[in-house]
Amino acid sequence: MELKIRHVSKDYGTFAALHDVSLDIRSGELVALLGPSGSGKTTLLRAIAGLETIDEGQIFFGGTDASRTSIQQRNVGFVFQHYALFRHMKVADNIAFGLRARDRSRRPHESEIARKVKELLELVQLPELGDRYPAQLSGGQRQRVALARALAIEPQVLLLDEPFGALDAQVRKDLRRWLRAIHEETGHTTVFVTHDQEEALELADRVAVLSKGELQQIGTPDDIYDRPATPFVYAFIGDSSFLPIEVRGGEAVLDRSVLPLGQLSAPDGQARLHVRPQDVVLRPTGEGVSGRVTLLRRTGAFRRADIEVGDARRRIEAQLPPELAITEGDEVGLHFNRFAVFPSDAPHSTAPN
Ligand SMILES: Nc1ncnc2c1ncn2[C@@H]1O[C@H](COP(=O)(O)OP(=O)(O)OP(=O)(O)O)[C@@H](O)[C@H]1O
Ligand SMILES: [Mg+2]
Repeated sequence: MELKIRHVSKDYGTFAALHDVSLDIRSGELVALLGPSGSGKTTLLRAIAGLETIDEGQIFFGGTDASRTSIQQRNVGFVFQHYALFRHMKVADNIAFGLRARDRSRRPHESEIARKVKELLELVQLPELGDRYPAQLSGGQRQRVALARALAIEPQVLLLDEPFGALDAQVRKDLRRWLRAIHEETGHTTVFVTHDQEEALELADRVAVLSKGELQQIGTPDDIYDRPATPFVYAFIGDSSFLPIEVRGGEAVLDRSVLPLGQLSAPDGQARLHVRPQDVVLRPTGEGVSGRVTLLRRTGAFRRADIEVGDARRRIEAQLPPELAITEGDEVGLHFNRFAVFPSDAPHSTAPN
């Protein structure tokens, strides 16, 4: 089922939880909604489910405008972070719940329900646990049962709101791979909310980045990482530094000196030049942008250097191979493999949370 979200806005009183959000989700695609706390991820997911009304815009399921239809009519499967299973029901009965709750004309026969539950228990790799109660399961097992319960109704769309948020890092990693495998097998159109960028980049076909109720960018993990569309995406995903520059006639000016970066397409005015540490390459002094190494430290497989640039000694970070012969205090030239210039008044973030 293809989803089309068109110009959706949602206010709580005077507060805009979603502002003019448009995105298309292809049939069978797994899209992650990524953003800091309060950015509108859950609101958007609930709006897709029909758990939340929208003030403006439309949500299409396939060719049909579903904006005003009920949650039942939309036929979505939902898993929440703390979506408690029914404690007094065995695992198998939890999974069967949505099928048994249907009205008589659409309710499958009990033997069909039993067959379906067995199949789902195998899919989520808990074939032996149908007779247990939720209290007798680990957190990760419970979330797998919650997913089986969401899948039981054969949803048109699967919506997952931080389903692994409460679990420890290793279990999350395992479940992430497992969810991807299940997705390949079942092919549901899936929207997955997370504020963990690693989870989003690893799991999703495409990532939609939200900030303050606005869609900043939707793209493949490579697009989001290598070609951030806004200053917010630069700051929120991965590491980056920026230099406050002025653009004059297509030239980048830092502290009254023109940076040798070639012709920019940015408009004249105050701007910020954003660059990721891995896109900063060291050259001999005199080549490229001049700088001075002020700090070197080892981070995992690489070294990181703080490099001061310009009269005002602005600091940018570079990622260097550990064998590079360099010491603190060295004068260097810098080349930027990739960078982006945005006007200073573009929306940005300094403190993603
Ligand atoms: N029922 C409500 N009444 C008023 N404001 C609300 C309501 N629900 C959400 N909000 C506000 O809307 C904004 C978006 O909330 P939402 O739950 O969508 O964020 P989120 O991105 O899911 O955050 P988190 O990562 O913390 O779950 C927040 O500022 C929140 O305070
Ligand atoms: Mg949320």
